[in-house]
Amino acid sequence: MILVTGSTGHFGKATIDFLLKTIPSSGIAALARDKNKAADLAAKGIDIRTGDYTDFDSMVKAFTGIEKLLLISSNDMNDRGGQHVNAINAAKKAGVRHIVYTSADIKDPFQSAIAFITDGHVKAENQIKNSGMTYTILKNNLYAECIPMFLGEKLPETGVFFPAGTGKTPFAARIDMAEAAAHVLTTEGHGNKEYSISSDKSYSFSDVADILSEISGKKIEYLDPPKEVFTEQLIKAGIPEMYVGFTAAFAEAIKRDEFNLPGTTLESLLGRKPLSLKAFLQTVYSTSK
Ligand SMILES: NC(=O)c1ccc[n+]([C@@H]2O[C@H](COP(=O)([O-])OP(=O)(O)OC[C@H]3O[C@@H](n4cnc5c(N)ncnc54)[C@H](OP(=O)(O)O)[C@@H]3O)[C@@H](O)[C@H]2O)c1
Repeated sequence: MILVTGSTGHFGKATIDFLLKTIPSSGIAALARDKNKAADLAAKGIDIRTGDYTDFDSMVKAFTGIEKLLLISSNDMNDRGGQHVNAINAAKKAGVRHIVYTSADIKDPFQSAIAFITDGHVKAENQIKNSGMTYTILKNNLYAECIPMFLGEKLPETGVFFPAGTGKTPFAARIDMAEAAAHVLTTEGHGNKEYSISSDKSYSFSDVADILSEISGKKIEYLDPPKEVFTEQLIKAGIPEMYVGFTAAFAEAIKRDEFNLPGTTLESLLGRKPLSLKAFLQTVYSTSK
């Protein structure tokens, strides 16, 4: 049996939908903190197990009888590394044979502008490798979904205002990454491997502005403000300070080219080209003209 954690989130739900295309629901379990949030999955015949990354015993119970586990990294920044280590130790104790983990792909996680994020992945990867379980590490590059998260979902007609300089990122759609995860969970040959999951072409935010210009039929400039001006404007606009700091740190990591690791592994796992950045941005912005 395969268990997917983070099943109430975007990546987990999408992965389960892809799993259902190749295996029966009786072979799938899902971890949820709140069973009510997973009612849609239960209706599809998925075995919903309650558990929390901060509660070791709940996970040992939930992971019992599971052969393959997809551990989706936490979105809770409160001792995220500790949560992952807890989940990995519980998987080991429960007898999980193969653990698949959603990590990040970044040039140097120790020197990163988003070290507060990469730290949780480094701890998880080390723990997994020392656990003795068979593993697959999915080093997911930045979701294309991060672009509307950073710029807003309304077409930025006054210009793409984001302090990422000329840094480039091989964004890929989260849904394609989830399909690749489902493929890894249902096919053989992925034991003790680390996969860089990205598109094969990197884009700067100037490129993003050009694509948005094509989509809208109007020239959209790329504005690359100093970090201080960016944060000041966001705070003035009422964006919570924590979120502003988070976004500015990602912009800095992109500016330093930390994510610029394009490759074809995602394409190989999917057996087709991933969704292009233009096609992705069209799904978000073509209706917001
Ligand atoms: N590569 C990228 O660009 C990128 C971007 C954003 C995030 N990420 C990472 O990738 C992960 C998956 O992405 P996503 O879009 O699916 O995120 P998401 O929609 O925010 O889902 C996060 C999931 O983690 C679960 N979770 C949080 N804390 C937990 C805990 N203590 N115990 C058990 N489950 C817990 C949430 O459960 P609840 O529903 O109960 O809250 C939810 O199911 C994120 O959590 C984050 O680590 C990567």
